[in-house]
Amino acid sequence: MSITILGIETSCDETSAAVLVDGVDLRSNIISSQIEIHKKFGGVVPEVASRKHLENVHPVIIEALEKADVTPGDLSAVAVTYGPGLVGALLVGVAAAKAMAYALDIPLIGVNHLEGHIAANFLAQPDLEFPLLCLVVSGGHSDLVYLPSRGEYRLLGRTRDDAAGEAFDKVARAMGLGYPGGPLIDKLAREGNPEAVQFPRAFLEEGSLDFSFSGLKSAVLNYLNRAAMLKEDINKADLAASFQRAVVEVLVEKTMMAVQRTGVKTIMMAGGVAANGGLRALLQERASAAGCRVVLPPLHLCTDNAAMIACAGYYKYLRGDFAPLTLNAVPALAL
Ligand code: KG4
Ligand code: ZN
Repeated sequence: MSITILGIETSCDETSAAVLVDGVDLRSNIISSQIEIHKKFGGVVPEVASRKHLENVHPVIIEALEKADVTPGDLSAVAVTYGPGLVGALLVGVAAAKAMAYALDIPLIGVNHLEGHIAANFLAQPDLEFPLLCLVVSGGHSDLVYLPSRGEYRLLGRTRDDAAGEAFDKVARAMGLGYPGGPLIDKLAREGNPEAVQFPRAFLEEGSLDFSFSGLKSAVLNYLNRAAMLKEDINKADLAASFQRAVVEVLVEKTMMAVQRTGVKTIMMAGGVAANGGLRALLQERASAAGCRVVLPPLHLCTDNAAMIACAGYYKYLRGDFAPLTLNAVPALAL
């Protein structure tokens, strides 16, 4: 008998539902993005996000089931993101998942959003051998996570201030590029010189695997303010490339330190910033020099989606790790 999981994701500004069979056969992954709505505010407005999720969650679930050609009766379980994220946004997905699990009398599975991002790697490559290391870089997180075995996570390093994606978004906003900033800077950086502007790299104390990007963000803002004051023209492509290089070098350097410390042979990446071209290229280069293999989710599975939640849910299903119907949203849920 096959195991068919419905995944639901509503932690931020994407309403998504996916149907995954046996952990690898992705039958549908519907993503309704609210980016166009939040764009005019320069970032996600939580109250607006919750209301939009409420409008979208039902049609998105129906579409995911129809596209997958399954009926609710075919489902083995419903897996849903219950944190971390925006509380009002999470609650919509959690309520929908609970209602379905109750009505269909099937297990409910609560998934940590970061566990979901990491699981995007297992969709294409379910047989990766543990131990593994994962650099999780999203709008809210910059974490180095060690996975000794499936379902076990040890946090080796985290951001002390801004997350990598947050730094991309704030710098892009200051440069007048728009929202979300990561993809826009990534694109612009391809035409720029990463050596043009010297920005600081925060490595913190000797041996630390934590990150800090607020100093770099301030350095870019100071650079922009100074240019505006002196009425100097700036080369936006050079600025984007130099900023991106500063972020990427620290991320890759610390990842390679974690590789040395743990002795892992396979490095994964996860989260929206894992779609960054500069980051993917430098990690590949440094890892292959160290004799390590790099596993990267396809670009469309790096940013928020329900396929990754269904995948994490599949492995929890195999372990019998189910949630009670009293499951609640946990905005600051830790991995
Ligand atoms: O994982 P995600 O979709 O949502 C969170 O869980 O936060 O990540 C969104 C973040 C945003 O900050 C966005 O600017 C960034 O990922 N991002 C990128 C790229 N694509 C998305 N950052 C750098 N380069 C990209 N190509
Ligand atoms: Zn995310």
